[in-house]
Amino acid sequence: MIAAPNGTAISITGLGCHVPERVVTNDDLAQLVDTSDEWIRTRTGIRERRFAAQEEALSDLALPAARAALRQAGVEGSSLDLVIVATVTPDMVFPSTAALLADQLGARDAAAYDLSAGCTGFMYALAQAFGMIAGGLAEKALVVGGDVLSKVIDLTDRSTCVLFGDGAGAAVIERVEDGGFLGFELGADGAGGVDLSLPAGGSRRPATADTVARGEHYVHMNGRQVFKFATRVLVSSAQSILDRCGLSVDDVDVYVPHQANVRIIDHAVAKLGIPEDRVVVNVDRYGNTSSASIPLALADAVAEGRVHRGDTVLMTGMGAGLTWGSTILRWTER
Ligand SMILES: CC(C)(COP(=O)(O)OP(=O)(O)OC[C@H]1O[C@@H](n2cnc3c(N)ncnc32)[C@H](O)[C@@H]1OP(=O)(O)O)[C@@H](O)C(=O)NCCC(=O)NCCS
Repeated sequence: MIAAPNGTAISITGLGCHVPERVVTNDDLAQLVDTSDEWIRTRTGIRERRFAAQEEALSDLALPAARAALRQAGVEGSSLDLVIVATVTPDMVFPSTAALLADQLGARDAAAYDLSAGCTGFMYALAQAFGMIAGGLAEKALVVGGDVLSKVIDLTDRSTCVLFGDGAGAAVIERVEDGGFLGFELGADGAGGVDLSLPAGGSRRPATADTVARGEHYVHMNGRQVFKFATRVLVSSAQSILDRCGLSVDDVDVYVPHQANVRIIDHAVAKLGIPEDRVVVNVDRYGNTSSASIPLALADAVAEGRVHRGDTVLMTGMGAGLTWGSTILRWTER
């Protein structure tokens, strides 16, 4: 748990998002695998998602999102001193997508690195940026959550291919006069890592013709186990950060949970007792965009006029690792 030291006001001053143009509907996927729009909608709440074009990589989605966030914050790329990209689908294993993005933004002297925490990546990266700024190691940070999971899902496996979509969200993080992040709660359970993994392509199982033939470069998931994990941590992580910050569910104006499955969100909302009109849901339009899901949902809520200065925003993510993480933010605007 990281709690903001008294007098430390650090916040999001700019938020930007980008999704690929191509819309893939449930009916489109029903052409590829034995599924139906009805099954996908009732089991997940997803109606459609975006898939990147063949030539589009993560940095192509991250760049427009980052530019929009910088514009909103009124910050030049050249004045960034920290760039973190949370992703499990970088352009390549190395160099980091963050370094490529920093170069494209003209952030010449910025520290830049990728962070792997699955769908919780954006929460982890926000906490890192917060800690670096609070500790005096950085002043202006860019945090990106982005994934192109369409490139690593098996389009013949109906139990995974219907769930995911592509996108990127970016946030400028810097000191503000008041408000901002009140604290973070992060955790990981590597013992459950096997339930959501991409087995090959690392140093354990380097790429060979065999690993490709066995489909080990695709997402493998034990859906039921992940479902149980997700419903548990979405509730426990939120309760723990609320307790630590001395707040109750009644204080939450806007709740932005990771957008994996509307049934998981409904379960958390019922257990936590958050009124439905405070809950942000856009999984129907984007599917599970992994580390982009929370910034995409937050940006939608802002665009719809649902987030006002001073509002208390609770965000919770969970995903591969297995990982989880929450933050509470008093919303600030430039
Ligand atoms: C994947 C998930 C939607 C499956 O829903 P479920 O209600 O648990 O479904 P089950 O796994 O019990 O499968 C039920 C049946 O539907 C079938 N099924 C699975 N995917 C299907 C699809 N796309 N279309 C039609 N049928 C499908 C299964 O084969 C199974 O058939 P069977 O009973 O004949 O074996 C659900 O487990 C889930 O959301 N898990 C969490 C996934 C997640 O969020 N991952 C990312 C976390 S960041």
